[in-house]
Amino acid sequence: MIKIRNLRKVYGDIPALCGLTMEIGSCELFGFVGPNGAGKTTTMKIIAGLLRADSGEILIDGERVTVHAKKLKGEIGYVPDFFGVYDNLKVQEYMEFYASLYGMSGRETRKRTEELLGMLNMTEWREEMVDSLSRGMKQKLCVARALVNNPKLLVLDEPASGMEPKYRRQLKELLQQLCAEGKTILISSHNLQELSEMCTNIGVIDKGRLLMQGNVQEILQEQTISNPYVLQYIRFPEEAMALLKSHALVKNIAIRENSLSFPFTGTREEAAALLSGLVAAGAEISSFFREEGSLEKLFLEVTT
Ligand SMILES: Nc1ncnc2c1ncn2[C@@H]1O[C@H](COP(=O)(O)OP(=O)(O)OP(=O)(O)O)[C@@H](O)[C@H]1O
Ligand SMILES: [Mg+2]
Repeated sequence: MIKIRNLRKVYGDIPALCGLTMEIGSCELFGFVGPNGAGKTTTMKIIAGLLRADSGEILIDGERVTVHAKKLKGEIGYVPDFFGVYDNLKVQEYMEFYASLYGMSGRETRKRTEELLGMLNMTEWREEMVDSLSRGMKQKLCVARALVNNPKLLVLDEPASGMEPKYRRQLKELLQQLCAEGKTILISSHNLQELSEMCTNIGVIDKGRLLMQGNVQEILQEQTISNPYVLQYIRFPEEAMALLKSHALVKNIAIRENSLSFPFTGTREEAAALLSGLVAAGAEISSFFREEGSLEKLFLEVTT
């Protein structure tokens, strides 16, 4: 759906994007990660048509994004990383104002506003002044606003950074639901655990270039397979240790207090047989598992 080719942007003499090339498929929930200053916000603003790149191009469903491209703007919902000031507007008025910008009728506007405030559990705040809302509430309102024109692409720049856990979960579930309904979503965040639970795909950028991108499940599985087993014990007698050391599939045992870890190349059945053998040799084992892959580990590996 989105093709980004060789995108470059310099602010004065600060390079922000240095030939970024990346693809986001239809209906993907794409997590966009990178260290501070990597170029995420710059990329998202260019996608949303709010900032002009120096060179390179972005195609959305084959159409080139340019600043002031009216048609595409109508198909993109954008949640910025910072919010402006909203003079004397109530939540409901604010939503209706944005809906009216898309040429909706009065009735349609009210219906859509009600629907979106309901979706984000904000109905009870409809009479509150926008400026009096807390940061997390403003963030939710901004997400509601970005959905007002029912865009097929949603671009969210750290939408959950100040939200309490309950709101974060609501937002996560909403984005997953929207994605299942056919929207394409690009979301930036520094919370890698949350992204790995929510996203289908991930792209890592640094210094204005893509370092890697891929399917989250595949990345995690690949990592998990190469991760060591961890064995926590209450008692681990000499006999058990001798068995472990002599096992053909076990190498480089790391010994810590009350736990051992070791790379294990065997199948799950072979792991189960090893565990039974250790118990038969007198070991009292409280847990035995392969460390799971994490995006955080991947991120630290590719960005350093
Ligand atoms: N308006 C601006 N004027 C000058 N430099 C800017 C401007 N906006 C961004 N930059 C610079 O461009 C680079 C990329 O910034 P950008 O905001 O895109 O990064 P980011 O990945 O969104 O970072 P963060 O995770 O901190 O939000 C940084 O070096 C930043 O200092
Ligand atoms: Mg940013």
